[in-house]
Amino acid sequence: MKILCVAGARPNFMKIAPLMRVFTESFEIEPYLVHTGQHYDEKMSSLFFEQLGIPAPDLNLEVGSGTHAQQTAEIMKRFEPVVLEEQPDAVLVVGDVNSTIACGLVAVKLGIQLYHVEAGLRSFDRGMPEEINRVLTDSISDLLFCTEQSGVDNLRNEGVSDDKIHLVGNVMIDTLLANRSKAEESKILEELGRAPGSYAAVTMHRPSNVDDPDVLARLLGVLEEVQQDLPIVLPLHPRTRQRLVSYGLMERVKQMPALQLTEPLSYLDFLRLTSSAAILLTDSGGIQEEAAVLGVPCLTLRENTERPSTVDCGANRIVGTDPETILHHYRELRSAQAKPGRPPLWDGQAAERIRDVILQSRTA
Ligand code: UD1
Repeated sequence: MKILCVAGARPNFMKIAPLMRVFTESFEIEPYLVHTGQHYDEKMSSLFFEQLGIPAPDLNLEVGSGTHAQQTAEIMKRFEPVVLEEQPDAVLVVGDVNSTIACGLVAVKLGIQLYHVEAGLRSFDRGMPEEINRVLTDSISDLLFCTEQSGVDNLRNEGVSDDKIHLVGNVMIDTLLANRSKAEESKILEELGRAPGSYAAVTMHRPSNVDDPDVLARLLGVLEEVQQDLPIVLPLHPRTRQRLVSYGLMERVKQMPALQLTEPLSYLDFLRLTSSAAILLTDSGGIQEEAAVLGVPCLTLRENTERPSTVDCGANRIVGTDPETILHHYRELRSAQAKPGRPPLWDGQAAERIRDVILQSRTA
């Protein structure tokens, strides 16, 4: 059985890694990996392939950046001939980025089975590009693999039939658990001059936070306060760097004495950084999940989450972008005892479960 697997942007790479491993090891599945090229910087892409042992893509579509329409359309145009040429039995997409919906649409229009890994997550915020990608991809998928019960419930509420929905756990956590001890060998803390537990790690890249100069300035105000209490390490996403420069806010960042900027970090360096942080402040989706498993308290700088299990297990608080609210929760969490929480099936075996479901569905 030939499965055309798609990865395009940074958060896809840690999800595709364990799937490529179990597919390659399986006698019954022949994977073919397509990188759309949505992310292309070495630090946003190739470093992840190296560190996570993902085989070099069979093909890179090299679409690069653009507006949503340009990027999505360009991926579709370049992906269609690949599907026609390769004639796969199925196309597998992960997550919620533009590459996910673009390749999903191409597959179903050619009558190819579509599998979606990380299905059913909903922020119920249609202003997020990822929410549109999630809803649309799920509505056209043949097998929907969920990380948490909320995903199953959301899909049922949207009328997806039960036989398509499979609660399998979390492939991103497969990758985290497989690499945790390797990350201990990272020298990033020494390079930054930080001791474990003595800093906050911060990430921000979501358009709603960094594309609006007022919101971005408000969040910098929060960081100004936090760094007076606890030094901050902030690996900068390329989008955030561009916005800070174009809004004239980079000087303000550089004037914070206890805020350290870094380039985007490799997977192992970032895992070392987050697992040893006193607290995480982030607008990422995946980092909320990683924080839960690592037992590091997490403040999510958004109004909502599509990953409610991370809140239910006590590891994550959704604090929005109002400075007073964020700082109130920051102070509370600083004095609280963190405890790791792991939603059901986040045990490192999600990719194996996905493989089993796929193979069973072929014989059913
Ligand atoms: C994308 C995903 C988002 C995910 C994020 C992780 C969508 C809609 N969004 O957002 O869900 O959380 O990836 O990073 O797919 N850039 C570079 N180098 C790169 C890639 C991007 O400099 O390797 C710059 C480009 O100027 C680009 C901008 O970053 O315009 C944004 O990249 P894009 O892929 O459009 O979206 P992300 O913000 O990265």
